[in-house]
Amino acid sequence: MIIAIDGPAASGKGSLARRLAEHLNYGFLDTGSLYRRVALAVLEQNIDPKDTNAVIEAAQNLIAVLDQPYDDSALRSDNVGQTASIVAQIQEVRDLLIQYQRDFPLQALQKGIKGAVLDGRDIGTVICPEAPIKLFITAEVEKRAQRRHKELQSRDIQATKPEVLAEMLERDARDQKRLDEHLAPPRVIGHDVHIIDTSDMTPDEVFNHALKIVTSH
Ligand code: DC
Repeated sequence: MIIAIDGPAASGKGSLARRLAEHLNYGFLDTGSLYRRVALAVLEQNIDPKDTNAVIEAAQNLIAVLDQPYDDSALRSDNVGQTASIVAQIQEVRDLLIQYQRDFPLQALQKGIKGAVLDGRDIGTVICPEAPIKLFITAEVEKRAQRRHKELQSRDIQATKPEVLAEMLERDARDQKRLDEHLAPPRVIGHDVHIIDTSDMTPDEVFNHALKIVTSH
């Protein structure tokens, strides 16, 4: 059983995916963290994110150590997120990360885990198009910026609301450009995707709604 969860930044897809995986005892893969790990390597090595060849080389080096433990908190800054969004535009980087993502449900199965939840941007279209359950989690950009601002405040990271909104719009535009060129969910995903707009929902409401969809399958 594969549950594919896609959606824009700060839509609530990550929290939902993690909670569903925990509840169902499924494996969980946050695919954004893969692009963030490439981004962190790029930043740490002072590589210009627009230097495509150098970024591809950094991604190739990362592939060899993808299974090793890493510090997730180092991946959560906005700088890493923006850089992840830039390196994710490079098709070769995406190609390098595809196999690991596609193997994930199978590896979970081999460990005796009967399902996997993957969240990202292209899970229901490119990574696991055969997934029986596809959710597209979205929310108005202002609401997403509000959530991100609150989260940054809780981590003592200084940023004004307009700054966070501007960054969110910039990231949306960049991510969306790629999606329009290559996938365009939910248009291409088709009728089988469940779209959940979380703008006016609490995390509990989102979880219960999604769980209902999952259990009805
Ligand atoms: O979900 P996130 O904010 O952690 O993702 C960081 C960036 O990585 C996001 O701006 C776009 C990119 N990404 C992607 O292109 N495809 C995915 N499956 C996951 C993330």
